[in-house]
Amino acid sequence: MIYFDQNTRLIHLSTPKTSYLMKVTADGYLGHVYYGKRLEKAPSQDLLRLEELSEPSEKPGEKVSFLDNLPFEYPTAGVGDFRESCLDISSNDNVRGIELFYKGYQIRNTKPEIKGLPASFDHTDSNCETLSITLRDDIRQIEVELNYTVYSDLDVITRWAVIKNCSNKAFYIDRALSMCIDAELDDYSVLYESGAWAREHQIQFQKVKPGTIVTESVKGESGHESQPFLGLISSDCSEESGEAYGFSLVYSGNFLAKVQTNSFGMSRTVLGIHPENFRWKLLRGESFYTPEVIMTYSDAGLGGMTRTFHRFIHDHIIRSAWKDKQRPILVNNWEATYLDFDDKKLISILGKAKESGLDMLVIDDGWFRKSKSEPEGGLGDWLPVDNKLPEGLKPVSEAAIQNGMKLGLWFEPEMISEDSELYRSHPEYVLSFPGRRPAECRNQWMLDFSNPKVLELIYEKIAAQIKENNLSYIKWDMNRPICDAYSHYLPADRQGEVCYRHVLGVYQIQERLLKEFPWLLIENCSSGGARFDCGMLYYSPQIWTSDDMDPIERLSICEGTELIYPVSTMGAHVCKNRNDISGRNISFDTRGLMAMAGTFGYELDITAISADDISKIPSQIKLRKRLNDLVNKGEYYRIKSYRRRVDGPVGGISGNADCFELISEDRSEAAVWFMQPLAEPNQRSIRIKTRALSPDFSYRVIAVTSADAYFDNNSDGRILDISGIRGEELNNAGLCLKLPREDFTGILIMIEKC
Ligand code: GLA
Repeated sequence: MIYFDQNTRLIHLSTPKTSYLMKVTADGYLGHVYYGKRLEKAPSQDLLRLEELSEPSEKPGEKVSFLDNLPFEYPTAGVGDFRESCLDISSNDNVRGIELFYKGYQIRNTKPEIKGLPASFDHTDSNCETLSITLRDDIRQIEVELNYTVYSDLDVITRWAVIKNCSNKAFYIDRALSMCIDAELDDYSVLYESGAWAREHQIQFQKVKPGTIVTESVKGESGHESQPFLGLISSDCSEESGEAYGFSLVYSGNFLAKVQTNSFGMSRTVLGIHPENFRWKLLRGESFYTPEVIMTYSDAGLGGMTRTFHRFIHDHIIRSAWKDKQRPILVNNWEATYLDFDDKKLISILGKAKESGLDMLVIDDGWFRKSKSEPEGGLGDWLPVDNKLPEGLKPVSEAAIQNGMKLGLWFEPEMISEDSELYRSHPEYVLSFPGRRPAECRNQWMLDFSNPKVLELIYEKIAAQIKENNLSYIKWDMNRPICDAYSHYLPADRQGEVCYRHVLGVYQIQERLLKEFPWLLIENCSSGGARFDCGMLYYSPQIWTSDDMDPIERLSICEGTELIYPVSTMGAHVCKNRNDISGRNISFDTRGLMAMAGTFGYELDITAISADDISKIPSQIKLRKRLNDLVNKGEYYRIKSYRRRVDGPVGGISGNADCFELISEDRSEAAVWFMQPLAEPNQRSIRIKTRALSPDFSYRVIAVTSADAYFDNNSDGRILDISGIRGEELNNAGLCLKLPREDFTGILIMIEKC
C-alpha cells in the first residue's frame, strides 16, 4: 500500500483502485505527482516538469518561477510560491517565511489518533498503513510531519499535518491547512454545497476556469451555507460513470476549501481550517495538529464517490454503540408545542406515544425558559422553570419509567442568556470584545469555550440532568454563529485561538459525556443542519438534517446530505400538516414513508392529530424497523433527482421525480424511495431501473403508498405486487410503475429475494 523508492525518491500510496504519488526533488522539496486511477507502474516521465523553464527565469529551477510552478504537497508562504499556501507562520519580531525540505519518513501499521480532534480510526489496525513524512525548515527550526493513512478496504487515503516547534522560542501559526493537491483540471467542475436555514446542503457545480472557486465558513461552525467538503468531477461524470474526487474535512468549525487555477491550467485545491480568525501560538517543544481530510477518487461517477464516503464514515468515523442498532423511535415536542407546554402536556404526549408503540419522548427547547412564546432566558442555567415544570422534570421522567419509555432532552450548551444566573454571576464567561456589547442572535450570546472552567460547569449541568432524569438521549443544538470572538480568559496573544478552541471544547465535552455515559445517544443539531460534518459524526451517529421536514423540501436537502453522509446519519421526523415552514399539506402516509429514510420519529402533536393518522403509526413503526438494516448499512444508488431537473452538469437522472435505492450487501433485498412531487396530466407509467440487484436472483416487488399497504395485501395503497421477477430484468429493462394522480406522493418499493 505504501512504497517509498529509495533510488528515485518516488512515493507510491495505493488503495484497491487508486494511486497517490509524491516525489522528493533533488533539492529536497516534496512535490505532488499524481492522484487518480491506480497505476501499476511508476510513471516513466518527470511529471513534476523539473527541467522545464518558466518565464521570466533564466535557467530551470531558478527559485521564484520554480516555486510558483512546482506542484507542492504542502506549500508554504512567503518565499516564492504565490499561490494559496497551506502553512504560514510569524514570530514576535514579525519575521515571516517558511520553506520545507524533506528529512525522512516512517511507516506504521496503525492509524494514529489526532490529539484532541475527531479522526478516522481502524479498530483492527489491519486495514491501513500510515506514512509520516518529515519536512523541516532549518532556519526557523520548524518541523512538519505530513501523515497519510492508506486504507486497504476502501479507496480512501486520509491526511493531516503536525507542525512542531523545534526552536527555542514561541511562534505563531497564521494558517495551517490540512491538504493541498496541485493538478491539471481542465474539463473538470468543482462540486460543493450551498444553503440556508431550512434549505441546507444544496448541490452546486462550477466549471474550473482560471481564477478561484471558494466554499468556506467563518461562522464558527460548518454552516448552513456550506459543507466542509469539496469535489472535483470530470466533464463526463454522471451518476455511475466518469471521475469524481471527494475531499471531506473531519472538523466542525471555520473552514476554507478553495480551487485556484493559474493561467497554465494548473489548479491548486486546498482544504483546512479557515485562516480568518485563526492564529495559534506554538510554544517551544509544542505541536499543532491539523484536522484530517478524507480523500477519495472514483471512476464510477458520483455514486462511486458517495458509496465510498458512506462506507468509510460508517466503518471508520462513527463510533457510537448505536451505529447499527435500531435507534429509539421518538416523538419530539418542538413543532408540537414549541415553547408552550407544561408537565401535563408532556405526560399526555408520552402516554399517547406509549399507546402508539413509540420508544422515546424528547423534550425540546423551552423546559428551562419562562416565556411560552419567545426563546428568552435560562441558557447556561439549565434548570427547569416553575411556570412549566413546577416539580422539575421528575414527574415526566417518572412517567417515562412507569411507561417503559426512554426520555431525551434538548440542550444548547455553547450558549448563555443575558437573563440567566450564570451571566449575572460570571459576565466574563461571555465572548465579547472589551467595551463592546456582544451581538445577540436569538437573544443569546456565546459562552467562552476556551475557558476550562466554562467547560467543566457546562459538563456538570448536562451530566446532572442525565443522572437525575434517567436520560437516554440528548439533542445538542447550536442556534447561532460565533462573532465577538474575544475571550476574557485567554491572554492578548492567544485571541486568534478562540474559534478553534471553541470547537475543541465542544468535542471535549461530548467525548467526556460518552466516556461517562457510553450508552448515551447524542443527536447533534445546529438550527437544523448547520453543523452536519464528519467531526460531529465521530461523537453522534445522527445529526438533525434540517428544521424543514416537508418531504418535498427535504428532497434536495437529503440528496445533498446523502451525497456525502450515510442515510442512517440523517435525523428525520414525520412533520405536521400543514407544514409550518413551507405551508404545504402532504398526506400522513407520504410524510411517514419519506421520514423512514433517516432515523425516524414524529414531530407533531400526537395527542391532537386525527384518529386515522394515529392508527397508521404502528405500521409505520413496524415498516421502519423492517427497513432498519437497509437504512443503517444499505448501499446507496441515486436513480432520479428532482433537484437536478434543471441545473447540474451530471445528466441522465433528472426529471419530475426523485428516486434512490438502498440495497443490502448480499443483494437479497433493496428498498427504493420514490417521490412524485407534482402529478402530471396525461402521463404514462414511469420506468424505474433498479441498480445492483443480483441478475440471477428472483425477486418479489411490492410498491406501496403507505406503510399499512405493505402489511395488507388488499390495501388500495399497494400499487404493485409482482413475484418471480429477475434482477437482470429490473436492472436493465426496469419496472413500469403507474403513478397515482396526486401531488406529493411518496412510494416505497420493497424488493425482496424470493
Ligand atoms: C433549532 C433546532 C430545532 C429546535 C429549535 C429549538 O432550530 O434545529 O429542531 O430544537 O432549535 O429552539
